[in-house]
Order: sequence, then structure tokens, then C-alpha cells
Amino acid sequence: MTDFSQRVESVSISGIREVFEAAGADAINLGLGQPDFPTPEHARQAAVDAIRSGKADAYTGNKGTEGLRQAIAAKHERDQGVAVDPGDVIATAGGSEALHLVMEAHVDPGEEVIFPDPGFVSYDALTRIAGGEPKPVPLRDDLTLDPAVVEEAITDDTAAFVVNSPGNPTGAVSDEEDVRAFARIADEHDVLCVSDEVYEHFVFDGDHHSPMQYAESDNVVVVNACSKTYSMTGWRLGWVTASNPRIERMLRVHQYVQACASAPAQFAAEAALSGPQDVVGEMTDAFERRRDLIVEGLTDIGLDLPTPEGAFYAMPRVPEGFVDECIERGVVIVPGEAFGDHGAGYARLSYATDEDTLREALDIMADAYDAVV
Ligand SMILES: Cc1ncc(COP(=O)(O)O)c(C=O)c1O
Repeated sequence: MTDFSQRVESVSISGIREVFEAAGADAINLGLGQPDFPTPEHARQAAVDAIRSGKADAYTGNKGTEGLRQAIAAKHERDQGVAVDPGDVIATAGGSEALHLVMEAHVDPGEEVIFPDPGFVSYDALTRIAGGEPKPVPLRDDLTLDPAVVEEAITDDTAAFVVNSPGNPTGAVSDEEDVRAFARIADEHDVLCVSDEVYEHFVFDGDHHSPMQYAESDNVVVVNACSKTYSMTGWRLGWVTASNPRIERMLRVHQYVQACASAPAQFAAEAALSGPQDVVGEMTDAFERRRDLIVEGLTDIGLDLPTPEGAFYAMPRVPEGFVDECIERGVVIVPGEAFGDHGAGYARLSYATDEDTLREALDIMADAYDAVV
């Protein structure tokens, strides 16, 4: 038998998939991490045009097309008010590849990466794949990441800390004070802050803030994607924005594992980023209405949860046996421990589904709750 690498042996397949497999085919799926909207027509059309004209037949530059990277730079100017050189961007196969590049280029074997627990599953896995040591840190009661907890966790072996606002699986949004603190920590401790901003636009209360707006050093790397913002999860198009020395190191990895992001997806992404943005506002409004519906519904059932201020997830505290009971009754939700040890006692619900289905799911969850308490 081949001897597998210890790095890969230390990673297991995400617990989320097991939950889907346990549910029946006609179950209501509140487990999915993707918007239930179509990709904007003008983005689809740009890909079709690029394919038909032959523009998408060949490799693009390793970092991506000039047009896409200019559109990403313009997006940072528009949304963050930060001037970015298009040369300081790499277009990637989704936010996932962008996170992989960041870890590979910055984490040495044995170095630590701090990230939120509960948190997005890739932070732990990609840290291990890069040979690093995961250092999950617990969240506040309102499920936001406390800068003081991050700062306390930093040691001489810390390579990076990850912040993710709005957060998966929590839906929590960091306020300006916390985001300024993350930037200060990156500056003062000379440690990398990886800001995962894939849910940037889905904020219902307050505004989205990025550490890139406040850092004085080049220690902030931003990961983002078209996946959630434009409902383009299947297109596999994301990016990483960082200072030029960091981009050049990440490019060494990207060049060999990916060569370049898919060309048709790059043309679609350029159109999505530079075209009309009203689709994003419409999705955000729909998610906000559903957020209100789900928070009210869960509270009426008797569950306790901080009001999620962004993304399309809610994370209530749940009684023992509740998740299994929901799945058995045909509503798929994900146990909190799939997102880290501190997720135990919680469940994640994605409300990226229509309001009638959400109401139906809430009725079933109410029966499940009564059956377990
Ligand atoms: C917080 C977070 N970051 C990154 C990603 C990866 O997104 P992509 O589909 O662009 O690879 C996801 C996907 O669920 C996510 O929730």
C-alpha cells in the first residue's frame, strides 16, 4: 500500500457531505452554502460570446486577463475606497483556490494559523495541507471574532490569522472597531491577516468593513469571489488581492497548480463585476427578508440565536438530538461541530431558499424540537 502524506492523512472529508447523504432525496435542504438565484444574464452572455468568438480558447495570463483584474481593482475602489494595482491581483478557481495559495505561500511546516471556531471548514484543512498547525479560537456569545482573543493566541510561531465577515457558518458581521483592531494586530505583530470577504455584499445591518481599508503595512491579504455575490458557485472564479511581493509568491503556486483560472469564467466574472450591480441588492434584500422570517420562526420554536447580520446563515443553539431529529423528519441542517469543536451545541441553517419552503421547514423543525425536549 502506498504511504500517503501525513499532511493529507490529517484532513478528512467535510462533515457537511455526510449530512446530505443521510437525508432522503425529497428532504428540504437547509444545508447548502450557495444562493438560490440564477447567475446574471449579462455574465452568462459574456461567457457565451467569449466561447463563440474563440477568445476563451487559450490560456490567459497566469494572473488572469487584464480586463478582469482591472474590474477587480475597480471593485476595490468602489467598495473599499482602496486603490489597487491590477497587477496585485490573481484570478483563481474560486475563493477556495485563493485561500490555498495564501496558505501555501505563507505557512511553513509547524507554523500556526489562527481562525474562528466555529468557522469555514477550509481554514483548518488548508492549514494542514500547507503543513501548518491549525489554531482555532472560540467566538464571542454573539458569534463574532474578538480581536483580543486573536491577539492573545499569537505566538512566535504564528504565520497568519483568518477573519471572515460576514461569517460562515455564523452570519455574524464584525463592526468597524473590530476590523480596525484586526488591521492593527496585523501591523503591530507583523503577522498576516487573511480576510475572507466572499459574503461582503450580503450585510443587512450596518456596513461591511475590510482590514485592507485600515492596515498600514502590507500584512492584509483579501480573498474574494464571484461565487456568492453573483450566484456563480459553479463558475469557479475568485481572486486574491495582496501586495506585489506576496502576489509574486502566490503566483508561483498558482502557475503550477492551475496555470490560469478558466477563461470563459473570467469573461463572465469581468461582466458581473463591471455590469449593473442591482442583482446584488435584490439578492441582499431577499436574504434580509428570509433572515427576519427564520429568526422569528426559530425564536418562536424556543431556540436561542444571535441575530445574524449578514451572509445567508443562522446559527441557533440547539438541544441534544435536534439535528438528527430534523434530518429524520426531512429537513437537512448541519451540526455545529462540522465547523469546529466550539460549534458543538449549535446547528447551521442556510436560508438560501424561498420563503414558502422556509415556512414548511420551520413547521417541521418545531415538531422536531417538541420531540427532543
Ligand atoms: C467563508 C467562505 N470562504 C470561501 C468559500 C469558497 O468559495 P468558492 O466557492 O468561491 O471557492 C466559501 C464557500 O462556501 C465560504 O463560505
